[in-house]
Amino acid sequence: MSDINRAARLKARPSGMLTRENFDIADEALAEPGDGQFRVRISHISLDPAMRGWVNDAKSYVPPVGLGEVMRAIAVGTVEASRHPKFRDGDTVTGLFGVQRFAISDGAGVIKVDTSKAPPERWIGGLGMPGMTAYFGLHEVAVPNPGETVVVSAASGAVGSIVGQIAKIMGCRAVGIAGGPEKCAYVTDELGFDACVDYKGGSLRDDLVAACPDGIDVLFENVGGEIHDTCLSLMNFRGRVAICGLISAYNSKTPVPGPFNYRSILVNRLNVRGFIVFDFISQYPQAAKHLGEWHAAGKLNIREDVRDGGVDAFPDVLNLLYTSGNFGKLVLKV
Ligand SMILES: NC(=O)c1ccc[n+]([C@@H]2O[C@H](COP(=O)([O-])OP(=O)(O)OC[C@H]3O[C@@H](n4cnc5c(N)ncnc54)[C@H](OP(=O)(O)O)[C@@H]3O)[C@@H](O)[C@H]2O)c1
Repeated sequence: MSDINRAARLKARPSGMLTRENFDIADEALAEPGDGQFRVRISHISLDPAMRGWVNDAKSYVPPVGLGEVMRAIAVGTVEASRHPKFRDGDTVTGLFGVQRFAISDGAGVIKVDTSKAPPERWIGGLGMPGMTAYFGLHEVAVPNPGETVVVSAASGAVGSIVGQIAKIMGCRAVGIAGGPEKCAYVTDELGFDACVDYKGGSLRDDLVAACPDGIDVLFENVGGEIHDTCLSLMNFRGRVAICGLISAYNSKTPVPGPFNYRSILVNRLNVRGFIVFDFISQYPQAAKHLGEWHAAGKLNIREDVRDGGVDAFPDVLNLLYTSGNFGKLVLKV
């Protein structure tokens, strides 16, 4: 790899799906770290559905990426040229390093990871932010009891796959919703969910009723739209709904209608709560410990979908998330 940076900077805000034209992707001089800083040679960039929202000029839980700024992204890489007392050359680290080959960091929000326990890309996937999202969404937001039915949408993906496996560890009935027979077979046969409903099969409601004979106690929502509405209609009394993501609406150019089955919240006295994984940042060590132990014990089946093409491929590869083109945690190799 040549020692020159290459970065994707936001050039224009998109309408609908991101395109290559929304970014300036170009070579840049390699920056040298100052006192208290280090450089990261990025190996893998995490592609997350939220990235589409980060480029909207709208109020959100983080400020929008500014025009001319390097696209925000979680990434993993190796420390070099360190002038920081706590990070040494050769350390493998994760952090918000951006869509580029090299990043300069002062260590804020940076976590050292152990590549003897899992490959680098897993630390930005099942053992990183998406795994933590699943963990906190269940343990802190939805809080299912043993024996309850937990339904999760986008079940074969980075977050959903871990949600169902943790639900099983918690003694629940885990039911996934995914697109197509191949992903559904993976969810049941390899991840160990009790059932998986193919939302593209044409009989979503009937198939959900069959998969959830006792109704739904906990809905872990990753998608929104028709899937969310259908699940709402099957919720049990005092059910809990964790709103983790609404990916079906992220590229919408027009306002998205609210759920038609809103009434279910009233009559079933549902507890509906949105959350962002960063809400639980002070508890990350606890989640990391549990995820690490389950992984080491072979209780977590984690799949990455690693794509080549480097920084230049960023917009096209990111869009796979919104077109069901990924199968597992989507990662861009740098
Ligand atoms: N709240 C938080 O802090 C937090 C943190 C991380 C992620 N999230 C959210 O969690 C959700 C999943 O993220 P992820 O990283 O795990 O992605 P992922 O599930 O690995 O990939 C996205 C998947 O979403 C499904 N999908 C996309 N468009 C859809 C549509 N219109 N209808 C139904 N399904 C659709 C596709 O699966 P199929 O092939 O099954 O259609 C696609 O593979 C996203 O909504 C994301 O924003 C939230």
